[in-house]
Amino acid sequence: MEVIIIEDARQIGSIAADAVEALLIGKPTAVLGLATGSSPLSIYDELAARYELGRVSFHQARGFTLDEYVGLLADHPERYRNVIDTVFVSRVDFGPGAVAGPDGLAADIPAACAAYETAIDHAGGVDLQILGIGTDGHIGFNEPGSSLASRTRIKTLTRQTRIDNARFFDGDVDRVPTHCLTQGLGTIMAARHVVLVATGRTKAEAVHQLVEGPVSAMWPATILQHHRHVTVLLDGAAARRLQLADYYRETYLSKPRWQGI
Ligand code: F6R
Repeated sequence: MEVIIIEDARQIGSIAADAVEALLIGKPTAVLGLATGSSPLSIYDELAARYELGRVSFHQARGFTLDEYVGLLADHPERYRNVIDTVFVSRVDFGPGAVAGPDGLAADIPAACAAYETAIDHAGGVDLQILGIGTDGHIGFNEPGSSLASRTRIKTLTRQTRIDNARFFDGDVDRVPTHCLTQGLGTIMAARHVVLVATGRTKAEAVHQLVEGPVSAMWPATILQHHRHVTVLLDGAAARRLQLADYYRETYLSKPRWQGI
């Protein structure tokens, strides 16, 4: 696991975008795993800017979102399928139908979850998965106690996650859905490269557990310690509880730039 601590949070988007750009140059048909929420926005902004400059194209690429609320109507602005369109997909040149998400309105939820796993498989698996992390250590919406081998399924959101996400629902926690569909931890672990972004003080404990804690379903993101290629991009506030922060900073400063992330 590579930990990169960046004082200028805008640079986080740039470092992650470099990895996406390099991937698409080598493999224009690459499959991207797309998180929603606040954390990846700087990445999407940077990729949209590079698309405008003609540096990067998504026209042969595919995308799979991580998760979706259950029951939000098709035109609800906070439905993740709509959110990812707004913040990223509509700003670049993905082909029609190239980006998919779990169907939170499906009548048969287990069948929809199984179909989502099959769709990811048929696309050849995710090459680069963009992730945020919840204050309780969730990735996707794999809340504490999730099976470390889980696949796409329905989950109940914790009260904490609903409080954290109430900011997207006019501050009203009761309007945040109670359930979601989420790629499982096993699904996320199958991605070939995972790039996780965390900024701000509220993420510090989850980040400490992710990087330095014991692997445990109580902090679901810790499963990433078993992944072969994870990049964790942090600002100073999110990194403030890391015991080895100085080591991570020195390592990145002396890293040969040709290595990328
Ligand atoms: C969103 C997702 C969640 C978020 C996490 C952090 O698709 O899967 O795991 O990444 O809740 O959210 P933000 O980035 O809004 O702090």
